[in-house]
Amino acid sequence: MNGQAERVFELQRLEKRLAGQNLPRHSKIFAFTSGKGGTGKTFLSVNMAFALSIMGKKILLVDFDCNFSNVHILMNVIATKTLSLFFLNKNLLPELITEVEPNLSVIFGDSGMQDFPKLSAGSIVNFFGQLRNLEHEYDFIFIDTASGTNKETLEILSQSDHTIVITSPEPTAVMDAYVVIKLLDGVGFTGEKNIVVNKSEDKNLADLTFLNLKTAVDHFLKTEIKFLGFAGNDAAVSRSIMAQTLLMKQTSNLPSEAGSLITLQISELAANLIKYIHVANIKQAG
Ligand SMILES: Nc1ncnc2c1ncn2[C@@H]1O[C@H](COP(=O)(O)OP(=O)(O)OP(=O)(O)O)[C@@H](O)[C@H]1O
Ligand SMILES: [Mg+2]
Repeated sequence: MNGQAERVFELQRLEKRLAGQNLPRHSKIFAFTSGKGGTGKTFLSVNMAFALSIMGKKILLVDFDCNFSNVHILMNVIATKTLSLFFLNKNLLPELITEVEPNLSVIFGDSGMQDFPKLSAGSIVNFFGQLRNLEHEYDFIFIDTASGTNKETLEILSQSDHTIVITSPEPTAVMDAYVVIKLLDGVGFTGEKNIVVNKSEDKNLADLTFLNLKTAVDHFLKTEIKFLGFAGNDAAVSRSIMAQTLLMKQTSNLPSEAGSLITLQISELAANLIKYIHVANIKQAG
């Protein structure tokens, strides 16, 4: 039997064994999404993950943007093992995990691969099956998805426990967030839909943006959305990406950003998520 076939059998054996154990469902998989591109999904998922890690939480971040993955660039890491190896049946998911920082592990994505394997609904379900087998090792699992709502992205979202919809205050982004929320209901997503308003001038504008979105969602979709928080529109973000140094990692490279408003806002988003998951788990237990 060749190595690849051996791996597939190993994977199937592992899945059967774990399925037999009937592990408890946790509810800690958060997918970051947005209709419109460039709203800040990658920036926020990476920096919120880092903020949570320094708060003592264990995080696994999965870069599930199959064609334009960016997480490794923001983290300044050369990714040798990427998610495509899982879908090509070459590696099991745990073998693709890299611990980048204490408490913060990443499964890196792929960029510009011409032969990225076609993702069927079955292969995505299989991915989530393996991801759930890793749940007990982490406090939060973040998935950074590609913008837009193609079939694969909707399948990823519907398999996740919670979504974090990132919008900016621009009406085009808000409209696209509305469409994502509508599609989530359409694919039977039953988790909670959390909204983050990114690139907002200030809190008032973020509140107003959320209110506008909520009014439309209440009226036309009759579904619930929650406001998780906001982050400002700050030139420090671009500087940190140019320097390939995480904004939240206040190193000597970027002393001027330490304690800046945006780092406080991202810490607040992370803290809100800790409160949120606490309440969600109490609800689930009840
Ligand atoms: N709070 C912010 N303030 C200023 N600029 C920001 C902020 N958040 C993100 N950006 C900028 O917006 C751009 C897009 O960010 P990012 O790549 O995180 O978005 P994305 O939603 O992941 O995009 P894509 O849809 O292409 O995956 C980047 O150039 C980043 O510098
Ligand atoms: Mg992105």
